Amino acid sequence: MPWVVREAVRDINRAVGRRWRAVDPLLPDPGTLPAGCGEPLVVTGDNGRTAGLGVCVHQHIPPQSLNQTWGAADRFTLVPRLPGQDVTTTASLLLAQWRDHLSGIGATRGPDTSASVVWPSLDITGIQALLRHGLQPFTVIAARTRPNGPPRPPRRAYGVTIRAAGPADEEQVLDLELRLIRYDMHFGGPVWRSATARLVRDEIRDSLTHSDPWTWLAERNGRAVGLIVAQPPQEAGWIAGMTSQSPAAYLQTMFIDAQERGTGIGAALVRNLHARLDDMGVAVTLLHHSQVNPLSAPFWYRMGYRPLWTSWEARPASALR
Ligand SMILES: CC(C)(COP(=O)(O)OP(=O)(O)OC[C@H]1O[C@@H](n2cnc3c(N)ncnc32)[C@H](O)[C@@H]1OP(=O)(O)O)[C@@H](O)C(=O)NCCC(=O)NCCS
Repeated sequence: MPWVVREAVRDINRAVGRRWRAVDPLLPDPGTLPAGCGEPLVVTGDNGRTAGLGVCVHQHIPPQSLNQTWGAADRFTLVPRLPGQDVTTTASLLLAQWRDHLSGIGATRGPDTSASVVWPSLDITGIQALLRHGLQPFTVIAARTRPNGPPRPPRRAYGVTIRAAGPADEEQVLDLELRLIRYDMHFGGPVWRSATARLVRDEIRDSLTHSDPWTWLAERNGRAVGLIVAQPPQEAGWIAGMTSQSPAAYLQTMFIDAQERGTGIGAALVRNLHARLDDMGVAVTLLHHSQVNPLSAPFWYRMGYRPLWTSWEARPASALR
């Protein structure tokens, strides 16, 4: 990157940092821009100065990676840096440049592709531009901060026991995990791959052999009816940079059998986990949920979470306009 651009990036990052802090104190400082596929896309303002920047990152997720189940195989992500009070116009110009850039890349034309922008959920300026360019709100990263008051005792669900899962529970955990993926597929996020079941099983088998796998089952009469899986801060480093607070934990999986929903089992599992996280001094817990999952958003917000980042996507990538 030429030094003039590097200087502009530094100044813009600072301005974006001020903007993000004002919008949402849980947002991190904007990190250094990733290398991207080429020179940054630059929007020049009427005064001739750089009004905004963006870098396009191309990712091919191989079929042997479980990550391919969580989205398209070829992902094109715009990482924007937009300072200023109202970023609608600059965002629109940047998205138009990005669309033109992607239209020259053959790999964006396939069906198994996505174009996405991860946007601060509380930053409402710019949303008009995202919508106008064909992006849809897909996935939310929601956050819960450690409450200040005295801990509330975990709520109990009548007739249900919560216990840590171990290696002997592989089949039950797998069954609940796969049902969650199939449920989430209704919302257009995950894609069932030929290797999905095997890769999920491998991940579960590996994790359940650890001495403390952070996987809990809710059981009624000895039958598993609910599952929660989380990552303690030492395993959640991959997402910790999405927030200003640390240490950060990640809530990975939550599923209750359809017949058992609405009876307090989900809350009991979550409060059991929260008691542990609060006790450990975890400052913030993050999770992903589909924006349009009608069960998860009301539940998570009842459990103390709120939106932090929203991933806006066009699938396939050629739907970007
Ligand atoms: C989301 C899910 C885990 C909730 O579990 P649950 O056992 O049904 O939830 P609970 O009965 O413990 O409800 C806890 C609280 O949330 C509220 N709540 C739960 N689901 C709700 C919904 N869809 N709408 C409004 N409130 C809801 C309950 O009323 C209850 O409130 P209260 O504390 O005032 O009584 C469950 O619906 C589920 O497994 N859904 C399918 C998979 C899924 O969406 N997983 C999350 C993926 S991110």
